[in-house]
Order: sequence, then structure tokens, then C-alpha cells
Amino acid sequence: TRPGAGRAALGGPVVYAHRGASAYAPENTIDAIDLAMQMGFDWVENDVQRTKDGVLVVIHDDTLARTTDVEQRFPNRAPWKVQDFTAAEIAQLDAGSWFGDEYAGAWVPTLREYLDRVQRNQQRLLLEIKKPELYPGIEEQTLKVLDEAGWLDARHVAQRLVVQSFSADSVRIVHRLRPDLVTAFLGTPTVADLPRYAEFTDRINPWHTTISADWVSAVHGLRGAHGKAMEVDTWIVDDAATARRVQDMGVDGIITNAPDVVQDAVGGF
Ligand code: G3P
Ligand code: CA
Repeated sequence: TRPGAGRAALGGPVVYAHRGASAYAPENTIDAIDLAMQMGFDWVENDVQRTKDGVLVVIHDDTLARTTDVEQRFPNRAPWKVQDFTAAEIAQLDAGSWFGDEYAGAWVPTLREYLDRVQRNQQRLLLEIKKPELYPGIEEQTLKVLDEAGWLDARHVAQRLVVQSFSADSVRIVHRLRPDLVTAFLGTPTVADLPRYAEFTDRINPWHTTISADWVSAVHGLRGAHGKAMEVDTWIVDDAATARRVQDMGVDGIITNAPDVVQDAVGGF
């Protein structure tokens, strides 16, 4: 595949590499976004949380246990919550060996490190604020880090960045703080409730098992926070049959651990 594969301009839904190309490299690491780039995918998705000493890091679970060697390194610190470890402690952890020996030495990136790499790779970012209820003020802090990394200029805001959350409150806060940013709500509001979401977001990103063609049409029929027809990016679709099924429903994007499988199923090349 070539750079830019997976873009709507080619005719199919946009393909997002979920936690990077996470079927093939350890999720949410620099290796996973580099691999997505090498495979030709420019949109990557990540998850942002906060350390004990207030540093934003890229990791999905609210504990370090599944995706690092924290249990060996810090055996007495169960349940190994991200918020109970400092950034310096987290930086010592191996976030790759659990996935495969060839990834030993991968680490949990800080958000700033991650943004710089996505930028260098000329990729685009679907940034998820994960479990914001655990991290008061994380929306403002995330925007600050994005700003410091040069991600809130007009070009990034227009083309390279979407901020999403399962928390409607969090999406609302981001929209209030930076009304120019494109946002997405993760979930499947009822058709009756959709207009309330359209007031503060542009995209609705549901789990694929929860949607129908009629529901996708209902979303498309609304204008979102920036006055354009709302769009739908669905997750996590890792097989060709499901990819074709959601494409037939009319989704605008597919968030997948296996972007090559999905691109082959829905793409026009
Ligand atoms: O981007 C959608 C998807 O990431 C939502 O679920 O649990 O993988 O963060 P999760
Ligand atoms: Ca996520």
C-alpha cells in the first residue's frame, strides 16, 4: 500500500489504525504508529491518561498490568494503576515484551513524545481522552500539550486531529475550550437523543454491533457542532465481512487493529 491509503478520497471509508497497527505491534507504542505508517495508514488512534505526577501518557487500560512488565518491576504496587505511578517509573517499564520478544524495549510514550512522532510520520491523530472521570482537568491539560506540540494550528485543526471520548461531559468540555476542534462522541445515542449531541460534537463513533443503516442515516441527517453533516466512525472491526457490512451501512470510517485487512475489504485498490 502507499502513503495515504485508507483515505475517504479513494472512495471507501477512512481506515483508522486503532492504538496504532495493534494487531501486529504492541498497542499505543511508537512501534505501532511507525508500523501503521509503513503499511500506508495515516490516521492512528490512541488513549490518553495521566501519571501520579501529572504527566499525560498514552495507554489504554487504567492499570499497567496487561501491557507492561510492571508486576515484575514493582511487585508490591498492586493493582498497578497508571495514576499511582510517576512518569519516571512508567518510563522504566517494558511495554513491548508482552506482545513479542522482538518488541522488547518498547515503552509507554508520553503524549508529547507520541505527538512528535505522529507529526514526524506525517500522520493524523484520533486522540481519545480515556476515563476522564479519573483525571480531573485532563481535557484542558490535553489541549495544553497539543498546543505546545504545535497541534492546534489551523492546519492541524482542519485536517489532522479529532478528539474523542466515551464521556459526553469530556467532549463538551473540549468543545467549550476549543470550539474550532473536531470532536467525536464514543457511543450509540438513540435517534431521539442525537440532536443533543449535535450541539457539541461533529462525529458519533459507535461499537459496530450496536448500529444499523437507519441509525447511520439518522446521524448523517444532522448537522454537527460545525454545521456540517455529522459522520460515523465505527470500531473495532478486524475482519473483512464485518468491514463490508458496516461499509454497506454507510459509515464514514472504520477503526481497526488490522488496517490492512479492512482496507483490502473496503478499499478501491
Ligand atoms: O476508538 C474507539 C475505541 O478505541 C474505543 O474503545 O476501549 O479500544 O478505547 P477502546
Ligand atoms: Ca481508544
